[in-house]
Amino acid sequence: MDALEAIFKRRSIRSFKDIELENERIIQLLKAGTSAPTAVNAQPWEFVVVTEKAILKQLREKLVFARYEAPCSIVVCGNMKLALKGQEKDLWIEDCSAATENMLIAATSIGLGSLWIGIYPVASRMSTVRRILNMPEEVIPLNMVYFGYPNEIKEGRTRYDEKHIYWQTYEPDRKHKTKHKPVIGHY
Ligand SMILES: Cc1cc2nc3c(=O)[nH]c(=O)nc-3n(C[C@H](O)[C@H](O)[C@H](O)COP(=O)(O)O)c2cc1C
Repeated sequence: MDALEAIFKRRSIRSFKDIELENERIIQLLKAGTSAPTAVNAQPWEFVVVTEKAILKQLREKLVFARYEAPCSIVVCGNMKLALKGQEKDLWIEDCSAATENMLIAATSIGLGSLWIGIYPVASRMSTVRRILNMPEEVIPLNMVYFGYPNEIKEGRTRYDEKHIYWQTYEPDRKHKTKHKPVIGHY
C-alpha cells in the first residue's frame, strides 16, 4: 500500500480482534513513529508500550473515553528533560503528534487498526495514566494509541473542504460556518 492510500484509508478503529500483536509489528510502528520530523532533531519523545492484559484493563477501566479492548497500547510521551527550552519548549507536542500520526498511517499500511486517545492537556487523564504507568513528573503523556488487528471495517475518506482552505493569505471577512458538530458516542 502506498503512503497516500494508507493516509486516505486510516480510520479510528474501536473494535479489535482478540489476537496478540507481534513484537516485530510493534517495533515497525515505533520505527515509523521515530522517523517523524522533530524540531532541532531534539527527539523529546518517549513511548510506553503496554501489552500486559492487566495493565490494559486498568487503563480501560480508569479512562472512560478509552474503554476499548485492544492487544496493544502505545503511550506517546514528551520528556521535558529532552524538550527544548524557553519559547520553543512546547514544540514537543508537534514532534510527538507527528510521531503518532506516522504510527497510525504505518499501522493502516500493514493491515492494523489504530485509535488515538487524547490525554494531554486534560489533568485528570494525565494523572491517571501517570499513576498506572509509573511516570515521573517530567514525562508528559500526550496520548495513548491502541493498535491491533481490526474487527470492524470503515470506509476511508478525506474531509477536504474548500471552506477550510485559504490561498496565499487569510481572509478574515469570509463568512462561513467553520465549526463542525462534534460526533457524539465516540468516547
Ligand atoms: C487529539 C485526539 C484525541 C482523541 N481522543 C479520542 C478519545 O479519547 N476517544 C476516542 O474514542 N477517540 C478519540 N479520538 C479519535 C477521534 O474521535 C477521531 O479521529 C474522529 O472522530 C475522526 O474519525 P477518524 O479517525 O475515523 O477519521 C481522538 C483523536 C485525536 C486526534
